[in-house]
Order: sequence, then structure tokens, then C-alpha cells
Amino acid sequence: MASVKGQEWYQADDVAEEYDDKRFSRGGQLIDRREKRAVLDAIMPVENRNVLEIACGTGRFTVLLADQGADVVGLDISTAMLQQGRAKAGRIEQEGTLEFLRGDAGRLPFPDDHFDTVIAMRFFHLADDPEAFLREMRRVSREQIVFDTFNRFSARSVYNWALPMGSRLYSKSEVSALLAKTDLTLVDVEDDFLVPYGLYRSIPNALASPIRALDTAVGGRPITDHFASVSYWNTRLR
Ligand SMILES: C[S@@+](CC[C@H](N)C(=O)[O-])C[C@H]1O[C@@H](n2cnc3c(N)ncnc32)[C@H](O)[C@@H]1O
Repeated sequence: MASVKGQEWYQADDVAEEYDDKRFSRGGQLIDRREKRAVLDAIMPVENRNVLEIACGTGRFTVLLADQGADVVGLDISTAMLQQGRAKAGRIEQEGTLEFLRGDAGRLPFPDDHFDTVIAMRFFHLADDPEAFLREMRRVSREQIVFDTFNRFSARSVYNWALPMGSRLYSKSEVSALLAKTDLTLVDVEDDFLVPYGLYRSIPNALASPIRALDTAVGGRPITDHFASVSYWNTRLR
């Protein structure tokens, strides 16, 4: 089985209960919105799409996609994280269908070509063998795979060693090589966030917007994209 950093860490009830609050409250709301935008932009139109999210955690994307009319399965290895997702889903009336399933992203319990789209957000930075996971995602997808990576040349590389489990950071050329090996074609890649995530999370929401304005003003150019914290990859099967 391909290993994943922090797989045990996410099984704990308190970690799961605090997951959304720690990352996506205060200025972190802006990161949550940005990530959701990236997923929606990549998948549009969402309605009636058959989507699998691996490592869905607390269901940030699964619930959103089902809310917008997709038929979604959210799979995660942690019962505690899934429990948060189910609670979130219970608070919203969905247009589409939504099912949460406990399972291992390395061995997906679905036949080949089962979904239109398979997504993985905030997962590849934890994967020791990304190719094995990407292959498995590709196997169960008919059309599209969407994921994000944390980037090697970003501010994160400076403080990565201090994070509880560190992150696997990717260069663009490494991801391009992974796509080639797994027969995926790049449709679009968006780069974002020069300012470290941690800064957004630590400031009130009202302060996040001006910093974000500066971030987007400086970002979005080839040279600064090189130093972006995160990339959103939209790919199709060949
Ligand atoms: C950083 S969280 C991301 C959750 C969610 N995708 C998000 O963006 O909020 C990583 C998730 O990966 C899950 N995970 C770790 N190893 C896994 C595996 N082998 N199969 C499925 N999920 C796994 C963890 O339980 C955790 O919920």
C-alpha cells in the first residue's frame, strides 16, 4: 500500500473536529473560497456530473459539488473526518446525490471508468508515491482528473521543515512528468498564493482581503507564478 503522511493523525476525533476551524476560519476563509472556485472552474458544468473525491476529509468539496447538482462520492480513510462531512451534509439540502465512504485511495473500491471526474484536493502533498495514487484515480475516471499540489519554489519550502508532518513539494516539471507517465493531458493549470497560507489563517478576515489584493496584484505573471504556493491542475484522460 502506498503510504500517506499523517494518515493516523487524521483518524483522531479532535483533529477532525478542529480541521475546518484551524484552516478555514478567520483569513483562511479566503483560501477555502479560492480552492472551491478552482474546483468549480475545472469541473463546470457540475450538474449531473458523476464525481469521486478521494481523501475528501470533512467534505468541503463533496458537499459543495452535491449542493450544485453533481452526484458525488466522497472517500476517505478516516472515520472521524467522514463524520464531520456527514454532519456538514446534513445541514444542507443537496441538488445531487452524496455518499461518504470509508476507503483507501490506493485501492479504490470501484470498477474502471466509473466516474466522469475524480478529484483530490490537499492530498498529493501527503503522498509518498503520487504516481500510484494518480494511476488509481485514472483507472476509475472516464474523463477528467483534478488535483492540487504545493509547490517547491514557494515560501512553504522555507518553513516546511517546521510543519508537524512536512509536505511533499512539487516542481512543475515533476507534475508534468507524472502526467506523462499516467497518460493524462493537461487542460489548464492555475497558480496562486505567493503569501504563505499560515499568514492568512492567523489574521482576521477583514485583513485578509487587502493582503490578498496585493498577492493577486503581484502574482499572475510567469515569473511570480514560479514562486506560487499552490497549483490547481485540470487534466483529461488521453
Ligand atoms: C489535508 S486532508 C484534506 C481533506 C480535504 N480533501 C480538504 O481539502 O479539506 C487529507 C485527508 O487525506 C485522508 N487520507 C490520508 N490517507 C488516505 C488514504 N490512503 N486514502 C484515503 N484518504 C486518505 C485523511 O484522512 C485526510 O482526511
